[in-house]
Amino acid sequence: MPAELSPIDKAKFAAARRAVDFVEDGMRVGLGTGSTAAWMVRCLGELVREEGLKITGVPTSSRTADLARQVGITVVGLDEAKWLDLTIDGADEFDPGLNLIKGGGGALLQEKIVATASDQMIVISDAAKEVAQLGAFPLPVEVVPFGWQTTRALIEETLVSMDVLGRNTTLRLNGTQPFVTDEGNYIVDLHLNRIGNPRQLALVLNQIPGVVENGLFIDIADIVIIGHGDGRVELRDINEGKVSHDKIDFMENDNLFSDLGD
Ligand code: A5P
Repeated sequence: MPAELSPIDKAKFAAARRAVDFVEDGMRVGLGTGSTAAWMVRCLGELVREEGLKITGVPTSSRTADLARQVGITVVGLDEAKWLDLTIDGADEFDPGLNLIKGGGGALLQEKIVATASDQMIVISDAAKEVAQLGAFPLPVEVVPFGWQTTRALIEETLVSMDVLGRNTTLRLNGTQPFVTDEGNYIVDLHLNRIGNPRQLALVLNQIPGVVENGLFIDIADIVIIGHGDGRVELRDINEGKVSHDKIDFMENDNLFSDLGD
């Protein structure tokens, strides 16, 4: 492993490497988006190329689709795959009940659709994303561009009656222009600081006309794999109530890094 890889990248890699152990021949696999998920896609690509693993990948963004093809994974759309055995994806925050905030990378809509269409969702993360209560990370809400300012005003009005600590909202930008999702929508980030009732908030936000989806993943994830910079991984199965520990040997995966770089 290159010496310049930061401890956080090593932690993300360790979680991703452990997660691909769950992937079996013939599976249809949802491929998440973000830096942690990118490690997972690279690990899967290596298994496909080096060990002949046969899988079909369903990417959750155009970025992930490009990377998956680049590393040799067969890619299809969700409508072709219909139902998935497993989705592996990162998260921006997770709480003790394995509820998540996602969408920091702007792919929350496809991510939620794909994860919901899977028998199992595995979250891969470094330890810094574990929180007692969700909300320090701004909650992304995908909105249609038509009338987005009205939608944002309605969101702010709705937040007044919600159990949250902050109510500031910002339109996500890409330079000076609105950030545009793969579906051609905008993202409004909600700076809530603390979300008292994530389930209620997720339901209420999706009732607002103009809101396409929000980044709260409630009761969707089954397992979280938490990686550490020294290769240790902790696996928590939320349904079984089981916790196990493992260690990833970085040296064994050295070729992956020299092949593909970052
Ligand atoms: C993408 O839209 C997000 O949901 C990502 O899964 C999330 O932001 C985690 O990304 P990193 O792995 O880059 O932290």
